[in-house]
Amino acid sequence: MNKALRKAVIAGNWKMNNTPDETKALITEMKPLVKDADCDVVLCVPFVDLYAALEATAGSNIKIGAENCHWAEKGAFTGEVSAKMLAAVGVPYVIIGHSERRQYFGETDVTVHNRVRAALDAGLTVILCVGETLDQRKQNITMEIIAMQTKIALAGVSAEELKRIIIAYEPVWAIGTGETATAEQADEVNGGIRALIASLYSQADADAFVVQYGGSMNAKNAAELLAKEHVDGGLIGGASLNAADFATIVAAASK
Ligand code: PGA
Repeated sequence: MNKALRKAVIAGNWKMNNTPDETKALITEMKPLVKDADCDVVLCVPFVDLYAALEATAGSNIKIGAENCHWAEKGAFTGEVSAKMLAAVGVPYVIIGHSERRQYFGETDVTVHNRVRAALDAGLTVILCVGETLDQRKQNITMEIIAMQTKIALAGVSAEELKRIIIAYEPVWAIGTGETATAEQADEVNGGIRALIASLYSQADADAFVVQYGGSMNAKNAAELLAKEHVDGGLIGGASLNAADFATIVAAASK
């Protein structure tokens, strides 16, 4: 199976949770629980927690990411943080295009594309989020929506740069709702994303490409989702705020 070619990536998305002190405490609790992981472990945290998180994870197998970045290097963009700034403080990962950014902060496919470009140029690895709404799923246009989001985001991205992109398939209706896509639904869309990558790049690029699932993945359902051929990890919101739950998901992803 080609799944064996890929190392799973389990990434936490803390969203707007935890102060720097809480960050240190939670990471101190998590570190021993995930130290033997046979997958990549990433925690994406609020900007103000980055320093604390980098300090707390130094020398461990946990890597740190931000939850967004701006597309300009610098300038008059009040409240924003550039990809270059993230790279300068030693942050290797960034989430781009999360549905909450699209839904509440006016993020569009074009601004997602611009942010992806800036993140790649700054040397970061991108966790690019795509996903359909419930309406779109009911209209049977899930794959069209995902393909459009993916193609616009990746326009101009080279095969070499693609190695620093992870796609997280996150059905909007499953995020923070307790409603998970079935393992079959997740596998179907993730497989569709891989086929799209094969058509845009090559089959070898697609075989090596990591596609996560996100949306109410938790300690109970992770093993079933992660067993699927095309589910190469998870982007975990709520369950990443609990050390034991997050560690259980990491263990499920470790071969
Ligand atoms: P959830 O969030 O696990 O709380 O559903 C996932 C995400 O939004 O990345």
